[in-house]
Amino acid sequence: MCGIVGYTGDREAFPILINGLKKLEYRGYDSAGIALEKEDGIVVYKTEGKVSRLEEMVKDKDLSSRTGIAHTRWATHGVPNAVNAHPHLSASGKLAIVHNGIIENYQVLKEALEQDGIPLKSETDTEILVNFIEKIKNETGKNLFEATQLALKRVVGAYAIVLMDADAPGRLVVARKGSPLVIGLGKNKDYIVASDASPIIAQTKTVYYLDEDEVGLLEPGKEMIIKTLDNKKVNPRLTELDMTIEELEKGGFEYFMLKEIYEQPKSVYDSMRGRIHPGKKIIRLGGIEPYENHILEADRIIMVGCGTSWHAGLVGEYMIEELARIPVEVEYGSEFRYRNPVIRPRDVVIGISQSGETADTLAALKLAKEKGALLLGICNVVGSSIARETHAGIYTHAGPEIGVASTKAFTAQVTVLLLLALRLGYLKGTIPRERYEALIEELAKAPDLIEKVLQTDLQVQQIARHYKDMKNFLYLGRGINFPVALEGALKLKEISYIHAEGYPAAEMKHGPIALIDENMPVVVIATKKGNYDKIVSNIREIKARNGRIIAIVTEGDKQVAALADHTIEIPEADEMLSPLLATIPLQLLAYHIAVMLGRDVDKPRNLAKSVTVE
Ligand code: AGP
Ligand code: GLU
Repeated sequence: MCGIVGYTGDREAFPILINGLKKLEYRGYDSAGIALEKEDGIVVYKTEGKVSRLEEMVKDKDLSSRTGIAHTRWATHGVPNAVNAHPHLSASGKLAIVHNGIIENYQVLKEALEQDGIPLKSETDTEILVNFIEKIKNETGKNLFEATQLALKRVVGAYAIVLMDADAPGRLVVARKGSPLVIGLGKNKDYIVASDASPIIAQTKTVYYLDEDEVGLLEPGKEMIIKTLDNKKVNPRLTELDMTIEELEKGGFEYFMLKEIYEQPKSVYDSMRGRIHPGKKIIRLGGIEPYENHILEADRIIMVGCGTSWHAGLVGEYMIEELARIPVEVEYGSEFRYRNPVIRPRDVVIGISQSGETADTLAALKLAKEKGALLLGICNVVGSSIARETHAGIYTHAGPEIGVASTKAFTAQVTVLLLLALRLGYLKGTIPRERYEALIEELAKAPDLIEKVLQTDLQVQQIARHYKDMKNFLYLGRGINFPVALEGALKLKEISYIHAEGYPAAEMKHGPIALIDENMPVVVIATKKGNYDKIVSNIREIKARNGRIIAIVTEGDKQVAALADHTIEIPEADEMLSPLLATIPLQLLAYHIAVMLGRDVDKPRNLAKSVTVE
């Protein structure tokens, strides 16, 4: 995955690069490095570990330079150590590269280099790429920009790269295919380029999102030059960023994750803004309006996503089938793409992704496109690869999500899916008018209801104290709350490293019940609407085996409260809204347990925020 930053201009590059890396650390944080242009060549500093370690390492060095590139890594090829960390230099030491992605045919390129006797220091595909570019440059006598174009035509894989050349001071060459890259244009025509806009916003709001198969040349004081790999000139369409610096800061919270949990009343509101008119009882989804008839005639809807976004898809399945009576299937991007799935032209495929960059989801969508399906996107990051690959879509507008564990993006996805289900159900006439109107009214109140659920924070923290040392957790839910159980378990395991499993409550008796004892806390979503009596029976089954129960219940519930060890109350609401509310205490539970165990909540081990590799 990795985060990359580059700067060239009239200011000191180092502070811009290092601060940029800190913003991108969510993308990967196993090693970090920086390359700066100096009068007598390029100097590189790199280390295993996080960006703070790099900062510590270089604090006594002469870092003055106006051009540089930097990297924070999530290793795909070779262990995370200083040698494998980026930037990588070419064998001559004249070219330096930072790379995000995977070069799939690196073995073939490596053999070509070995034949020329070019020595390689690291185990990475990236070092092969920079040497391959240098080889083409030497063989053809072209400049770095042209040599990069030629070399990339022979590269298979995904990349966002930034290169510099000691023989062409001040210039950066950038290129992308499959991994994101944003170019920021400063007031004095200085350039900052990065994997996403977060390092750029403090410098400038004017950006160009580099497109697939484009190569760019950035030189201070001059217009950027953008061309395709086939050397066709591209007129870069500049856009203005609409995020603020405050959105990217922690704002007094200890971790981004907690800030993002607390932002949910606002992010859920933002995901509905301009789309729901409670007074007029109307929902409008501008992005997909031209395609509504196509969707209504669909034989089925297939949702693809990974991780939390896949869970949102499962919630969406329940909503769309219930309210719009269109058959829905939910698929993992990674499984779908390798199964030769049956996709017909009357299928509609919806890609769900916070980042809009997840490689498995993107590849699944491309496959569905080839097979003729209409593609819709539900993405959070505006202008992301998935947003651009799809024919139309609905942005979630949750604002930047920095914590690796997805929280506000999930509730925004669920909100957007409910809007979609309601809109389709309304157009198809499959929802009784009264329920439709009542749901619109309740959904409009969801931000207030979430605000109320957040007040359980202290109570959840106390519960977390009781259970923080447990080794296993089980999460149970039924119907629309089954994916909520999956999501609760995923949150716990990814940030606390405690093993947790989500299960449909009724399935428990077919296996997992064997695990139940006093050391296996069971978190049950037991809200009043939807299968309440059945879930009460499941709770009794657990209690009969000395299990300990933490139950999420509807306000005023007495029956479950009498059985459970702990109850957390959420406001009464239509069943369709319960995922939005029941998820919040589960996010808080995972958060508090992780903090109590001293985990790095925002950057859990082995993970990265957007998984742009297979
Ligand atoms: C969520 O907490 C995870 N870190 C992860 O499962 C994530 O949801 C998944 O990688 C998909 O990401 P996306 O939404 O950006 O596509
Ligand atoms: N393949 C490169 C490496 O292992 C980049 C990794 C990535 O972007 O995930 O260093």
